[in-house]
Amino acid sequence: MSVHAHVVGWGKYLPKRLLTNDDLSRLVSTSDEWIRTRTGIQERHLVEDGETTSSMAVLAARKALEIAQLNPAQIDLIIVATVTPDYIFPSTACLVQDLLGANRAAAFDLSAGCTGFVYGLSVAANMISAGTYRTALVIGAETLSTITDWSDRSTCVLFGDGAGAIVLQAGENKGGVLATSLGSDGSGRDMLWLPAGGCRMPASSRTVKERLHFIHMNGREVFRFAVKVMHSATSDVLEKIGCSLEEISLLIPHQANQRIIDAAARSLKLPLEKIFSNVAKYGNTSTASIPIALSEAAELGRIKPGDLVICVAFGAGLTWGALAIRWTRPLPQVTPIWRRILRSLFYVMAIIRSYLRRLSRRLLSLGVQEVPRDLRGRRK
Ligand code: UT7
Repeated sequence: MSVHAHVVGWGKYLPKRLLTNDDLSRLVSTSDEWIRTRTGIQERHLVEDGETTSSMAVLAARKALEIAQLNPAQIDLIIVATVTPDYIFPSTACLVQDLLGANRAAAFDLSAGCTGFVYGLSVAANMISAGTYRTALVIGAETLSTITDWSDRSTCVLFGDGAGAIVLQAGENKGGVLATSLGSDGSGRDMLWLPAGGCRMPASSRTVKERLHFIHMNGREVFRFAVKVMHSATSDVLEKIGCSLEEISLLIPHQANQRIIDAAARSLKLPLEKIFSNVAKYGNTSTASIPIALSEAAELGRIKPGDLVICVAFGAGLTWGALAIRWTRPLPQVTPIWRRILRSLFYVMAIIRSYLRRLSRRLLSLGVQEVPRDLRGRRK
C-alpha cells in the first residue's frame, strides 16, 4: 500500500512591528508611490527586540501543530528553511526542536534561497512516502531585517520578517503532496547574494565597512529569471501529475513582487482570482513567504478539500521549484480551551526541561556526579 504525505496543519507568525512605505521614505530616497507601483508592497512586519528566526518559527509551528491536533512529541522530522538562521551552527531547526519539546525529532536547516520551503516540503514528503518518517514539520522563517542594508533603496523596500509552518503526515488515502519539481543554476550565484561571512570572505573590519554582510541583488536580472521559472516550474509539476492549468484551484507563488506575480499569471494565462497574493501586507519574506501564504489562504477558506494547490518559488542560488498538493484537510473545529491550556503547559515543560538539561551539563562540568539517563532524558 503506497503512503502519501498529507498537509494536516498550517500556521503563520508575523511580528507586531509595522514598517510602512511612508516610514521608508523617511529613511531613503523613495516614495510610497514608487514602491506600490514597482512592487505592490504597502507595508512589512519587522522583528522587535528579542525576536529571532527560531522564536518566530516556534510560534508558527505551535499554530500548525494545534490545527494538526498533534503533540510535539509526535514529530519525527523538523526542517527549517532559512537564509537568516539564528547561528551558522547549531541549526535553527535544533533550537526549534528544543523549544517545542519535540524530543523524538531529527532536525536540520535547509538553504536554498527563497525556494527553501519548497525544497524542504519536497524532502519531507519524499521521506514520508519512502516510509522513513510519519510526521514532519516544515518551517520557512526569516529575519531579513538583519541582513537588509537600510541605506540601499533598491533592496530595503522589498523585504520583511516572518515565519510559516506546515505539518505533513503519512496517510494511505490518496492526495497530499503529489509531485515536486526542483531546479538550480549556480552560475547565477552573484545575482542575489550575501557576499561576506562565509569561509570565502570571513567577517573582518573591511567586510563590515564595505557593507558586504547585507543582501546584494541585481533586481532586473532576478525579475527576468523569476518570470521565466515561475512558468516553467509550474508547467513541469503539472506535467508530472498529468493535470492541465485549468485544473489548478489556487496558485501560491513566492511573494516577491506583485509585478512578477502578474507577469507569471499572464504568461500562464491564469485568471488573477486563481492566484493568491499577500505581498502588499508582508513584502518579501523569502522562505517564509509560501508557508505564510498557504496558511493565510487556508485560514481564509480559499482552499477546500479536493483542491489542487500549486506552490511555486524562485530565489538565490539560483534555485526554483514547484509543488503540487491535493488538499485533503477540512478547516478544523475551534480547539477546546482545556486542550489549549494543556498545550501551553507542555510548552512550559519543554522550556523547563531544556533549562534543567543545560544546568545538569554545567554541574557535570564542575564535577558533580549525574544520574545516568537515556537519550530521552529518562533515569536509567
Ligand atoms: O526573492 C527574490 C528576491 N528578489 C526579487 O524578487 C527582486 C526582483 N526584482 C524586482 O522586484 C525589481 O527589479 C525591483 C523592484 C527590485 C526594481 O524594480 P525595477 O522596475 O526593475 O527598477 P530598476 O531597478 O530598473 O530601477 C528603475 C529606477 C532606477 O533609477 P534610474 O537609474 O532609472 O534613474 C533606480 O535607481 O528606479 C530607481 N529606484 C528607486 N526609486 C525610488 C530603485 N529603487 C528605488 C526606490 N525608490 N526604492
